[in-house]
Amino acid sequence: LITDSNVAGRHLKPILSALSSAGFEVLPIIIPPGERQKNLRRANAIFTQMIDRGIGRTSSVLAFGGGVVGDLAGFVAATFMRGIPIVQIPTTIIAQVDSAIGGKTAVNHPLGKNLIGAFHQPAFVWTDIAYLKTLAKREIVSGIGEIIKYAVIADEDLFAYLEQHMPDLLALDDEVVFHVLERCSEIKASVVAQDEREHDVRIILNFGHTVGHALEAAGKYRLLRHGEAVLLGMMAESMIARRLGLIDADLQERIFSLIRQVPMRASVDALPLEEILRAMGRDKKNAGSLVRFVLPKRIGEMQIVDGVHGKIVKESVHVGR
Ligand SMILES: NC(=O)c1ccc[n+]([C@@H]2O[C@H](COP(=O)([O-])OP(=O)(O)OC[C@H]3O[C@@H](n4cnc5c(N)ncnc54)[C@H](O)[C@@H]3O)[C@@H](O)[C@H]2O)c1
Ligand SMILES: [Zn+2]
Repeated sequence: LITDSNVAGRHLKPILSALSSAGFEVLPIIIPPGERQKNLRRANAIFTQMIDRGIGRTSSVLAFGGGVVGDLAGFVAATFMRGIPIVQIPTTIIAQVDSAIGGKTAVNHPLGKNLIGAFHQPAFVWTDIAYLKTLAKREIVSGIGEIIKYAVIADEDLFAYLEQHMPDLLALDDEVVFHVLERCSEIKASVVAQDEREHDVRIILNFGHTVGHALEAAGKYRLLRHGEAVLLGMMAESMIARRLGLIDADLQERIFSLIRQVPMRASVDALPLEEILRAMGRDKKNAGSLVRFVLPKRIGEMQIVDGVHGKIVKESVHVGR
């Protein structure tokens, strides 16, 4: 069982005793929290612990935590003895609606995020929304970034529901959280089922991420949480869609209003535009040298656009909240 110290401090005991009363022999591996742990050196330290304890091909890895733990543990499971099963028990919103579903595992390389990894589908994903109660406010906000993304790319009803229920979602009302997370998980699973290796359909999951990833990188991964960058990225990309005539001003405003309901403190005003644009040029989703955008045509229908004019991109990146 791989987890981090934040999750372990709050939730490890009950799961360990449940596993042991079900007859499992468990080796708990607790890593420090944070994106910086998602690297090959940490993976190797975990391999060493597993080999020392005599873990073999009949064992499984259980990832218990947010996306960092899930990606790292998934990578460990994908490569240990050429691959052993992985079970995901996600404990953040991002992990429950996104990273635990779909089989992408990875560690970071000094030259970029998620560059080393493998596709390795989980044997199953166990989601319990009760874990979310101990999340920091900022992690909830970050998770809502991905939730709004799912609504825009795939589900007009979900979008309208979020417009009505955003305060309840922010307060983690059980009924609202359950409905929203169930719908988002379904969307993610269905997109991945259509296109596991990201040849075509899966690309729509990158709405808000072309600009979002660039903002994250330009902020050295310290300024913004991933979902915060996605919130700002979706505003920028909706503005691009409007300037290209894909959506009208009303729809762009509707997307902006929903995003503005999410209280976010981080600001990118201090980030130099040049830095953001340079980071955008390095995104691994690009087709050749052209920057690739996934843009809305209406709620629930996206279009892939390569090579948006630089002037439009520049004018859209810094849209204020
Ligand atoms: N594989 C994929 O498809 C995919 C998709 C999206 C994101 N990701 C990856 O996921 C990572 C981001 O995930 P994240 O936002 O979950 O980050 P994270 O794992 O760092 O979790 C955020 C913070 O919340 C803490 N935490 C986790 N669960 C908690 C709980 N129940 N109560 C209190 N604190 C808790 C963590 O210790 C951490 O400090 C990134 O590395 C990203 O690349 C992967
Ligand atoms: Zn994302």
